[in-house]
Amino acid sequence: MSSHLLWCLLGIHLLGTAFGSPVASATNDSVPASHHKVLIFGGGVSGVIAARALHDKGISDFLILEARDELGGRLISHSFGGKVIENGPNWIQGTQTGSGPENPILKLALKHGLKTQFNDYFGSITTYDPDGSTDYIDIFNNAVDKYTSLVNSAGARVGKSLVDLTSRSGYLINRANAHTPQEQAAEYYQFDWEYAQTPEQTSWIASSWGNNFTYVPEAGGFSEDNLLSIDQRGFKYFLQAEGDEFLEAQQIRYNSRVKNIAHSDSQVRVTLDDGQTFSADYAICTFSLGVLQNDDVRFEPELPDYKLEAISSMTMATYTKIFLQFPKKFWFDTEMGLYADSERGRYPVWQSLDHENFFPGSGIIFVTVTGDYSQRIERLPDSQVKEEVLGVMRQMFPNITIPEPLDFFFPRWFSDPLFRGSYSNWPPSFFSEHHDNLRANLGRLYFSGEAMSQKYFGFLHGAYDEGQNIGTLVAQCVQGGCVSLKSVQLVRNAHPYEI
Ligand SMILES: Cc1cc2nc3c(=O)[nH]c(=O)nc-3n(C[C@H](O)[C@H](O)[C@H](O)COP(=O)(O)OP(=O)(O)OC[C@H]3O[C@@H](n4cnc5c(N)ncnc54)[C@H](O)[C@@H]3O)c2cc1C
Ligand SMILES: *[C@@H]1O[C@H](CO)[C@@H](O)[C@H](O)[C@H]1NC(C)=O
Ligand SMILES: *[C@@H]1O[C@H](CO)[C@@H](O)[C@H](O)[C@H]1NC(C)=O
Ligand SMILES: *[C@@H]1O[C@H](CO)[C@@H](O)[C@H](O)[C@H]1NC(C)=O
Repeated sequence: MSSHLLWCLLGIHLLGTAFGSPVASATNDSVPASHHKVLIFGGGVSGVIAARALHDKGISDFLILEARDELGGRLISHSFGGKVIENGPNWIQGTQTGSGPENPILKLALKHGLKTQFNDYFGSITTYDPDGSTDYIDIFNNAVDKYTSLVNSAGARVGKSLVDLTSRSGYLINRANAHTPQEQAAEYYQFDWEYAQTPEQTSWIASSWGNNFTYVPEAGGFSEDNLLSIDQRGFKYFLQAEGDEFLEAQQIRYNSRVKNIAHSDSQVRVTLDDGQTFSADYAICTFSLGVLQNDDVRFEPELPDYKLEAISSMTMATYTKIFLQFPKKFWFDTEMGLYADSERGRYPVWQSLDHENFFPGSGIIFVTVTGDYSQRIERLPDSQVKEEVLGVMRQMFPNITIPEPLDFFFPRWFSDPLFRGSYSNWPPSFFSEHHDNLRANLGRLYFSGEAMSQKYFGFLHGAYDEGQNIGTLVAQCVQGGCVSLKSVQLVRNAHPYEI
């Protein structure tokens, strides 16, 4: 009989109380640790899919510890203006082309009947600048071509083993830089709206890979289509419905905030903020890169230098959707609007939800800001952000008296201690070896989550792919065939910097 079966027959909780915890807790000896084969930290896409991978391998003695009161992680829906809108992810990005690779999020969405709608990013857009509606679609289309040349020339660099540079260098080298506010807004739509950071802050090579593996079928990607979830059960529904198919109530603990993660040669042990402890043979940590970068969760022993360097060097970017509801729609009939302010990144991308394809008659529109601008507005009171946004609307619609919005809302992802940003972005001078180190396990402690995905960092399907990979790997550990992920102690320059 496998030891796992034995544990199940005896009952974990019985063992925990009747025989005491296998190892006393470091921080609260009065509470015995309940012991499992595997602990999963976080119940987002990565955590749930890792759990499913364990389940599929016949392992049921695992426990998901989640700080929130539901599964979904960054899939957070919110009631606004009589509709359920999405604070976090909204799109299935890349679908499938012919019989090519399928986005696994699409597969789950179809399986569970999630209601989605094709969102026409490039064919349904109205352009604005401070003088109101101004047609610069030619500049917009030109920015699409400039972006394609950026991505393709990054491939040529990889082919020649040239060092990575910033995407800004790439634009400049291609003589494809943006100069005027209109050109900058069009570039922003291509670049920052996707990576949540500027071309200056982003790796030319890695962002180009990211684009290709998701959007370009010829390069192994899914497709260039984006499906917007308009499901009134929330986008999270696809994940919760998937979880319902295999998770037992005793395999999840909600409202459980991990404070401390200790690992040794023999086990991983965590302490919650209320002092309760749990231990396991193996653990999978799916907390966001932003959480790992901050002191919300402590590691014992301290993270080794190579791990700390990797965690500290990938970037947690921020993407902020600002929602407004008005008594009635007075804006563009297209799906999207683009506003070119003299300051790059100032309230640039607008999306109408009051559109026949989405929520007609809702009076809802939202505008997105990213990166440093997101961090800026998170520090401001709502009232000031609202006034700024309304000021931009007055410039976009000079002949309309903009009414007072019925409702106004934006989530503060960067300040949220459960996320500390929205999703990861790969900066320049972050080498592939750094990313290996980011992903690498520390003995019995494995890491998963969107940031750990080399092909799909930032995306829901990245979180899924890593959850599947790491869950499968840890199942092998439990079943006696443990494999460690590669890491290097020192990431060195190929050529020394010399003065
Ligand atoms: C605004 C925004 C827009 C986005 N848009 C898209 C999009 O359109 N399409 C797309 O594909 N992707 C998008 N993304 C990215 C996508 O949301 C993520 O890639 C994905 O959800 C990450 O899943 P994860 O499981 O790796 O992490 P998470 O979802 O962050 O899961 C980690 C879990 O750990 C929990 N946790 C954190 N700290 C603790 C603690 N101390 N103790 C216990 N639990 C803790 C959290 O509550 C969370 O549930 C967007 C993200 C944001 C924020
Ligand atoms: C992206 O894909 C294109 C093919 O569509 C290819 O030419 C280019 O080299 C790829 N870029 C990278 C960075 O791999
Ligand atoms: C230990 O746990 C008990 C029960 O949860 C709690 O009442 C107590 O405050 C904890 N002590 C410490 C030091 O955390
Ligand atoms: C706004 O009004 C002015 C003056 O009446 C007019 O010239 C202009 O075309 C109008 N603009 C729009 C966007 O309707």
